[in-house]
Amino acid sequence: MTGFHYQHGVLHADDVALPAIADAVGTPTFVYAAGAIERNWTRLADALTPLGVGIAYALKANSNQAVIATLARLGAGADVVSGGELTRALAAGVTADRIVFSGVGKTADEIAQALKAGIHQLNVESIPELDLIDRVAGEVGLRAQVALRVNPDVDAGTHAKITTGRKDNKFGIDLEDAAAAWARAASLPNLEPVGLAVHIGSQLLDLAPYRAAYRRLADLVNALRAQGQAVTRLDLGGGLGVGYRGETGPDLEEYAALVHATVGGLGCSLMVEPGRYLVADAGCVLTRVLFVKEGGARRFIILDAGMNDLLRPALYDAFHAVVPVNQAPPNATLHPADIVGPVCETGDTFAKARELPPLEAGDLVALLHAGAYGAVMASTYNTRPLAAEVLVAGSKFETVRLRQTVEALLSAERLPSWLESPGDHGQRRRSTG
Ligand code: LLP
Repeated sequence: MTGFHYQHGVLHADDVALPAIADAVGTPTFVYAAGAIERNWTRLADALTPLGVGIAYALKANSNQAVIATLARLGAGADVVSGGELTRALAAGVTADRIVFSGVGKTADEIAQALKAGIHQLNVESIPELDLIDRVAGEVGLRAQVALRVNPDVDAGTHAKITTGRKDNKFGIDLEDAAAAWARAASLPNLEPVGLAVHIGSQLLDLAPYRAAYRRLADLVNALRAQGQAVTRLDLGGGLGVGYRGETGPDLEEYAALVHATVGGLGCSLMVEPGRYLVADAGCVLTRVLFVKEGGARRFIILDAGMNDLLRPALYDAFHAVVPVNQAPPNATLHPADIVGPVCETGDTFAKARELPPLEAGDLVALLHAGAYGAVMASTYNTRPLAAEVLVAGSKFETVRLRQTVEALLSAERLPSWLESPGDHGQRRRSTG
C-alpha cells in the first residue's frame, strides 16, 4: 500500500486527500501517486543499475502518457507491443534508442513505423516474423536489429492466463529451434541479430523460475557463440510481482544477485522489462458506494466502478484490497460483504465475503493496486464511458485523462444509409410494398 496511506483518518495519495479528487473529478477515477512510482523505480534501479542492467518500462501495464513521462524522466526506456504504444512512448518523451518492440503479432505497418522511428531493437518471436521484418526493412531501406525471444520452457508458477514461458504457450521460439532461427536471421540481408530475449510470465513472487530461465538463456548464448554467432544483448523480460494481499514481493537484491550469477559474466548488455512492479501499488480506483443491498444470505456493496473499469477480478479472480477512504474507527465491527459493480453480470464482483467496516451509500472506497493492468484493460461495456485518470505529485493533482463522455463514445458510430431515417424507411417500405 505504498502509494496510499491514511492521514488524520482519510486515505491520501502522496499528500492529497482522496475526497478532494472525488469532489473535483467525480468517480470512478483512477488515481496514481507519482511519489510511489518514483519509490518503486528507485528501488529497482538501485538494485539493477550497479550491474549495468537497463530498465525498459512495459507500457502495457499503464500507458497513460503522464505515467510514461514520469518514468521516462527517471531514466526508463520503454517496452512496447503495438504501434499505438510506440506512438505513446515517443509522445511521452522516451527516446527511440531506448525503445524495444516486443509482441507475438506485429503487422508490416507497425514494423515499418518502428524501423523509421529508429528504435533500439525488435524482439522477434517466430521465423515468419523474421522474414516479414527483413522484407519491410528492405522496403524502407533500413537494417533491423533484432533479438530472438526464446521460449525456455520454464513454468513461472503464476496464473495460467499470464504465464508465457512454457512450451505450450504461444510465445517465443523453442530453445532447440533458436540456433536455426539465428542462422536464418543472420542470412537475411536486412536483419542483424544482436541478442536474445526471454519473458516467462507475470506476477512472479518466487524467483526460482527466473534462475532456471536465465540459466537456459546463458547456455544458449554459449552454444550460439560456439557456432561463431555474436550475441551481444540480453533482454531478461519483466514479471516481478507485487503483494496484492500484503505479502512481501520478490527480494530485488536476490533478483539482482541471480541475474549476476546466471548471465552477468557473458559480456552482454542487459535489460529488463518490468511493468506491474513499477506502477501497480501506485494506483487505485476511487469509487463511490451507490447502494448497500442486504440480501437474505449476503450483503452487497454496489459501487459505481464495475468490471469494465477494473477487469482483473473478473478475468483472473484477482485479489484487490478494498478500503474505505474514511478510515473506520479501530473498534468498528467488520462484516462480510460482496463488493460488486453495476454491470449486468455476476462476474462483475470485486470481492466476495470480504470483511469490511460498515459502509453506506455515498461513501468513498478505494480498490488498491490498480495502477497496473487497470485503466489499460478497461472497456466501455454497458456503454459505461472510460473513467478519468488523475496523477498526484506531492500536494498537487491533475487530471491526466478526461472522463470519457457518452457523446464521445457514440461519435465514432454511424447508422448505415438504410437506417438513417426510420421515418423515410417506413415510407419506402410502404411505397414499394
Ligand atoms: N515483457 C513482456 C514480453 C510481457 O509480455 C509482459 C507482460 C511484460 C514484459 C511485463 O510484465 P510485468 O512486469 O508487468 O509482469 N493483464 C495481466 C498481466 C499481463 C502481462 C502480459 N505481459 C494482469 O492483469 O495480471
